[in-house]
Amino acid sequence: MATSKIFKIWFVLLLVVLMNLISPFLVVVKGEQQVPCLFIMGDSLFDNGNNNNLLTAAKANYPPYGIDFPDGPTGRFTNGKNTADFLAEILGFDRYIEPFATVKGVEMFRGVNYASGAAGIRDESGIHLGDRISLNRQLRNHKVTISHMSTLLGNKTLTKEYLSKCIYIVGMGNNDYINNYLMPQFYPSSHLYKPEKYAKLLIQQYSKQLKSLYRYGARKVAVFGVGSLGCIPAELELYGTKDSICVDSINSAVQKFADKFKPMIDDLNSNLPDASFIYINQTSIAIGDPSAIGLTSLAEPCCEISSFIAKGQCSNGGGACSDRASHYFWDGFHPTEIPNNVCAERAYTALLPTDAYPFDISHLAGSALNKLAQSGA
Ligand SMILES: *[C@@H]1O[C@H](CO)[C@@H](O)[C@H](O)[C@H]1NC(C)=O
Ligand SMILES: *[C@@H]1O[C@H](CO)[C@@H](O)[C@H](O)[C@H]1NC(C)=O
Repeated sequence: MATSKIFKIWFVLLLVVLMNLISPFLVVVKGEQQVPCLFIMGDSLFDNGNNNNLLTAAKANYPPYGIDFPDGPTGRFTNGKNTADFLAEILGFDRYIEPFATVKGVEMFRGVNYASGAAGIRDESGIHLGDRISLNRQLRNHKVTISHMSTLLGNKTLTKEYLSKCIYIVGMGNNDYINNYLMPQFYPSSHLYKPEKYAKLLIQQYSKQLKSLYRYGARKVAVFGVGSLGCIPAELELYGTKDSICVDSINSAVQKFADKFKPMIDDLNSNLPDASFIYINQTSIAIGDPSAIGLTSLAEPCCEISSFIAKGQCSNGGGACSDRASHYFWDGFHPTEIPNNVCAERAYTALLPTDAYPFDISHLAGSALNKLAQSGA
């Protein structure tokens, strides 16, 4: 009995090792894998294919999406890699984290990507586009993964110990504005709540969801905040302020939500034993001279924009600009892979002290702490 359990565990671990060695997949980077696993929850900024078979307009598995990605259009909402892909590379994974929609067997021990375009903290966010995997559903999918892992390992305690070593990245809230609060024609939220009240409700629900993630076993969690949504091309188009750089009323509503992240992170860290929650500050990461990294076109989307239901996404089979390395925006909502790379780099190693709170992902991974210890600092 005991031997068969031990055998089972070693068999699974052996398979994980073998799969890493003989991986027929693409890419990535040299250097040691810093954590055994990476779990991803979020919206279209992290989605890598979970919406492909859903009945929704929020899809990106058609050209020109993926024009710079080795596998072409995969469901990533950008021209190349998204922030979750870059983070997997930086953390030393030799290939990207599989979407929940297609992950199988022992592959899930490397982590799973649950992210879904149009999804939000609130279940209804994005519903006018069709189906989407809300954060609550992503959490339920994570429970399914954990139950498979427990079966394979034959031991729930061991599974929890394993999960406590994984890094979790969670990026939610954009669609609770873009595809909810900022669409009064489809959603009642802006009629019911003033911006401050809505922000408060959102953060309360988010905090509960992150606590569930902790209960399932997560201990190292990087929470990505929302950016300046009033500056994205789709909102400028919708709100018709073509002369100004951003829609100030949107930025001010979203700021009320952003202001609540730090207190939430403090609360989670002080009330949940052994938890390390960190906040990745998108507003701070956006600071810097874009032209220093070659970005000279900051407001014009690169691809031809669809005017159908998923207005603001690339039109199916439409054209794309050739100077993609100089465009900040890929479509009406999403950055090209260059800002995605910057976001991942600065989330991992903070460039400004405000990029990550209370510390960055390199510290979450433990590698920086170990290095400090080794150097006797
Ligand atoms: C399950 O794993 C834990 C932690 O590694 C270990 O202490 C325990 O003995 C294991 N239980 C069984 C039934 O193998
Ligand atoms: C996020 O960055 C902005 C811009 O630097 C800053 O004003 C804000 O205080 C930061 N938030 C946190 C929680 O550090």
